[in-house]
Amino acid sequence: MLTSDLLSLIAQRRSIKQNLLKPDPLPREWIEQMLEAANWAPNHGDSEPWRFSVFAGAARQALGEAFAQSYRLGIPAEKYNPLAEKIQAERVWLAPVWIAVGMQPGGHHPEWEEVAAVGAAVHAAQLVAASLGLSAFWTSGLAVLHENTARFVGLQAPTKLLGFVYVGHPSIPWPRGVRRDWQSKVEWHWDVPSNTGF
Ligand SMILES: Cc1cc2nc3c(=O)[nH]c(=O)nc-3n(C[C@H](O)[C@H](O)[C@H](O)COP(=O)(O)O)c2cc1C
Repeated sequence: MLTSDLLSLIAQRRSIKQNLLKPDPLPREWIEQMLEAANWAPNHGDSEPWRFSVFAGAARQALGEAFAQSYRLGIPAEKYNPLAEKIQAERVWLAPVWIAVGMQPGGHHPEWEEVAAVGAAVHAAQLVAASLGLSAFWTSGLAVLHENTARFVGLQAPTKLLGFVYVGHPSIPWPRGVRRDWQSKVEWHWDVPSNTGF
């Protein structure tokens, strides 16, 4: 693959909100390719800490119920809003595939390294999604991260739920991303004679 093609895929990958997706089902093979890519992510000491649980079709009914229940359990009583609960129950129908993202620590390295590895895994999956014309949106928030949701997807301590990635075709033209320039985030210590060509 050309580096320029890879760079362009990385820059073009986008996360598109659930209300701007088509609910049409996706081939399972595409999700398998995303998760195979995730499995190649860098990780420390072969911990391979990423864990995924995939919901599609009618399996989303119970997931929506879990989100709604988690919202009820997590929201302070004075802030409870029945409409917000309904949105949690129904959002699952807006994207055809929902993937729970778990982090199972290997126990030999600090947790942040495992979280970083899971981040790399999700990004790999998102790049495959983008190559298929799909958005893959990593979402968190109260109902998504609540321990009730973690239990529902079968994760228990020390394994943690790090959110969900929902996947689907956009119903809008593919959006342009925005980033501040990368140069402003880099400090160089490049003490190499210019005549070496590097
Ligand atoms: C771990 C993680 C959790 C996120 N959770 C949310 C979220 O709950 N709600 C949200 O609007 N964006 C959330 N985002 C941001 C979006 O997933 C997305 O990355 C961001 O909008 C940038 O868009 P882009 O991916 O198209 O560049 C989260 C990102 C990460 C990495």
